[in-house]
Parts: sequence; structure tokens; C-alpha cells
Amino acid sequence: MAVFNATTTTDQVIDAFKSQVKGRTFVITGAGKPSIGSQMAVALAKASPMHILIASRTASRVETVLKEITEIDSSIKTTFVQVDLTDHDSVRRAAKEIQAAAPKIDVLINSAGIMAIKEFTVDKQGIELQLSANYVGHFLLTNLIMPSLLAASPARVVNLTGSGYRITKFRFDDWNFSNGKEYERWTSYGQAKLASILFTYGLTKRLKDRGITSTACHPGYNGDTHLGDHLTYDDYGEVPDIMRRNMGMEWEWEEPRFKTFDQIPTTSLIAALDPELPAKSPAYLQNSQIHETDEHARDPEGVEKLWKLSEQLAGQKFEY
Ligand SMILES: NC(=O)c1ccc[n+]([C@@H]2O[C@H](COP(=O)([O-])OP(=O)(O)OC[C@H]3O[C@@H](n4cnc5c(N)ncnc54)[C@H](OP(=O)(O)O)[C@@H]3O)[C@@H](O)[C@H]2O)c1
Repeated sequence: MAVFNATTTTDQVIDAFKSQVKGRTFVITGAGKPSIGSQMAVALAKASPMHILIASRTASRVETVLKEITEIDSSIKTTFVQVDLTDHDSVRRAAKEIQAAAPKIDVLINSAGIMAIKEFTVDKQGIELQLSANYVGHFLLTNLIMPSLLAASPARVVNLTGSGYRITKFRFDDWNFSNGKEYERWTSYGQAKLASILFTYGLTKRLKDRGITSTACHPGYNGDTHLGDHLTYDDYGEVPDIMRRNMGMEWEWEEPRFKTFDQIPTTSLIAALDPELPAKSPAYLQNSQIHETDEHARDPEGVEKLWKLSEQLAGQKFEY
């Protein structure tokens, strides 16, 4: 992996790994334009995949992405499946549609997300919205479509996380912030992104011997997507104090502080394509390289506790 670094572009990654794209099926969540997911989908289209399926919330934002894919290569099968990851009925319906359209999935990229929602909000099931959209919906979807991943084995699952996971430990005793009384928006985002990493470990532990591996990726920071549209620069300035209060540790913005829209999908694409990664998984990637996480993101007890809690929140057990 040594050739890639923080400034690697999507075209460089696709060029290096085009043999890993050709003929394969990719499922990407949260790929309305402009987003990291949409950038990944368009980049993959340049290397002859068989099928790109986008599962996302708003059809109109995905239509332009599918059109771009077809303009690049009209032989690629494209599918849109509407899903609201915060509504478990919607996730269950979408999972059926995904499996029908893609009986074999080589790579699932869980990219959908929301960040730092100001007011405490719960989803239809009563779960805090950031945990729900970033993580619980993906836990349920990934497990429901596992037959399609197993049918393509070896297959992989890429979970988009963020360095915000460092802000907090998982609040096993109060994951719903005392129904809002203890809510703090960055801690909530951090908890959700931490959950995605713990899930990466739990999934790989259960399924590696059947050929399913998972990696978590911090893509870097970028302001061209819609993730932080509701925030001001000062809002981000709250993070160091919150990290100090929660963890007794100092926050660091890693360099480069911002990636271009062209660079922002590279780490996740490497996670999806690098043929050396399955053997090294579970892993966390940042700036195009495997990066050691803080201990609380890979603690085996936390990994198992989260799997059990996730089954409770999703209302279904997943045993392999
Ligand atoms: N951008 C960054 O600087 C950055 C940094 C660190 C980590 N990340 C992570 O990278 C991932 C992608 O971020 P982004 O910048 O691409 O964000 P974005 O531009 O806001 O795109 C997020 C996508 O997720 C979809 N989505 C949100 N809630 C959903 C739900 N309930 N059900 C289904 N789809 C839903 C959105 O759908 P709509 O089209 O309907 O809005 C959109 O297509 C996120 O997991 C984020 O936490 C991003």
C-alpha cells in the first residue's frame, strides 16, 4: 500500500486496481450527488464494473449519478433502491430489493451518514438519529443482505467512519443520552462513528473464515459534500473541548486539514479494492493507509457488547 498517501486521487486508485473492479458488483449506500458515495460510484464506472447499485434516500439526487455512470460506460448495469436507513421497515424492504437485483455482491460500501444534528432527535424506533442513520440502519441492512455477499465470497464490507470516533467511548449504559437530557451533538456523532468501527471488527470476526472481511475508513475532511451544510466553522471549534471532557485527551485535526472533492473518496476506494487488504482485515484506514485506532475502537469486549445491543435495536439476531 506504500504508493498511496494523503493526496492520492481517485483516478490513481482506480488505475492501480482496475482488475478488482472489472465485472464486479458494488453496492453503495448514501450516494446522492454531491457526496463521497457519488464520487466513488462515478470513479468505479471508469473500470468496467458489471453492476453499480445505489441505496440512498433521495431519488432525484441519485438519478444524475446513474446518468453519469451510463455516460461513462453504457454497458454497466445501474440500479437505484430507495431506502431510509432510520426506518427499519424501509431497510427491510430495501434489503429484499437489493438481493433481488444483486444476488451476488462483491463489495458493499456503507457511506450514508449525517453529522452533528443540533437538536436531540429520534428515529421511528426511538433510536437517536445519528446512531440510527450512521450505524444501526447499516448494521441491519448489511446483515439482511449477507446472503448476497456470501454468494460472491470472497466479498467485503467498507464502513465509512470518521476520526470523530475518538471523541467518546461507546455509552453502553446510556446510548440514547437519557432520552435527550444528556444529548451533545458531537458526542453523538462520535458514538455513531465509533460503532461503525466496532461493527467492522465484529463482522470480520464472525465471517472471515467464510470469506467476508470488513474495513473502516476515515475519508478525511471535505466541504464539497452536504454533510456539514448546517454547521459553521465555529461549530467544529467545539470538538477539542468535548474530546478533553469526554476522554481527557487532546483532539488533533490530521493533515491535510481538507481534501479536494477528487481526493475524498480515495481511502474508501482503496478499502474496497486493494487485494492485500482482506488478509489484513479488520482494519481502519486513514490517508490511504492502515492506521492504528485508539484502543476503545477495537476492544473485544466492546465489539461483542455492541453486536448484542445492535441486535436488540434492530429487533433481530444475526448468528453466523
Ligand atoms: N465529508 C467529510 O468531510 C467526512 C469526514 C469524515 C467522515 N465522513 C463520513 O463519510 C460518509 C459520507 O459523507 P458525505 O460527506 O458524503 O455526506 P453527504 O454529502 O451528506 O451524503 C450523505 C448521503 O447519505 C444519505 N443519507 C443520509 N441519511 C440517510 C438515511 N437516513 N437513509 C438513507 N440515506 C441517507 C444522503 O441522502 P440524501 O441524498 O437524501 O441527503 C446522502 O446521499 C458519512 O458516513 C460521513 O460520516 C465524511
